[in-house]
Amino acid sequence: MLRTTEGPVPVAAQDWNELWQARQTLRTAPRDATYWDKRAQTFDRKDAPDTYAQRFLELADVHPGEMVFDMGCGTGNLSVPLGQRGHEVLAADFSRVMLERLEENLQQAHVTSVRSMQLSWEDDWRADGVESNSFDVCVASRSIATDDLRSALLKLTDVARRRVCITLATGVSPRIDARLMRKLGIVLPENMDAVYALGILSAEGHLPQLTYINTKRFDAFATFDDAREHFTGMVDMALEEAISAPDRDEILRRLHAWLEDALQKDDHGEGVSVCQPRDVNWAFMWWDK
Ligand SMILES: C[S@@+](CC[C@H](N)C(=O)[O-])C[C@H]1O[C@@H](n2cnc3c(N)ncnc32)[C@H](O)[C@@H]1O
Repeated sequence: MLRTTEGPVPVAAQDWNELWQARQTLRTAPRDATYWDKRAQTFDRKDAPDTYAQRFLELADVHPGEMVFDMGCGTGNLSVPLGQRGHEVLAADFSRVMLERLEENLQQAHVTSVRSMQLSWEDDWRADGVESNSFDVCVASRSIATDDLRSALLKLTDVARRRVCITLATGVSPRIDARLMRKLGIVLPENMDAVYALGILSAEGHLPQLTYINTKRFDAFATFDDAREHFTGMVDMALEEAISAPDRDEILRRLHAWLEDALQKDDHGEGVSVCQPRDVNWAFMWWDK
């Protein structure tokens, strides 16, 4: 895609949003609000306690007293600690159930400076009262799932007075266990979401900076059967995107052997989890206005 019959296309001449859109057509995982409504039930339990949010907030370096817009806030991994530090926050998400969980988490933490709002990347933010230059810092943590990346990045930049901070996926999808897929012989395309964002932002005259947040993901289930169903679904999701793979029966044979070894009963005996957490790395990008 980076070549024409005359040779390679210079990087500066690429339309990175068009390349991003072409990549989105290959994604098969669900990304609508109903999917996120369901995930809201267990979303708080998947990261190692606090490490991701803590690192995000260290890197974001929100100054005391600054107002923050948290787009795709989920259950409040960032909005709750920001509220606890006394920041005024507008926490927005298109999933109604995520926002309900957020409200519960805010109440539990006795935070009153965070306001929530149902909003999607695709909405007309100004019509919904989210004005230009209305927040010091805008954050979008693991939440930029939209076909129009350029529009999302420019909308966030427009709303920010000082800084924008985002995280984007690296490697294979965070919903897929890369280590397991390698064991099963499934070869998948790598996400390079940050590359598209760098291209778009650079073309717009911004100077985005980039680093990485490394996290551990704990896959935990109520029963062995739930785990088996989850990983079978993961295999089928991976197979839809795979570059190459053995046949499905062979994969499932390898998967069941892996599950026998990898799953262990939780200490308190209430469920099962994978003994070794898996690594999920996020590209953290920020730019100042
Ligand atoms: C992986 S969660 C991240 C939540 C939170 N920002 C965090 O880092 O813990 C992704 C969030 O983005 C939201 N989201 C996904 N697509 C969206 C869209 N098109 N518009 C608004 N929110 C969206 C989901 O509902 C979900 O709450």
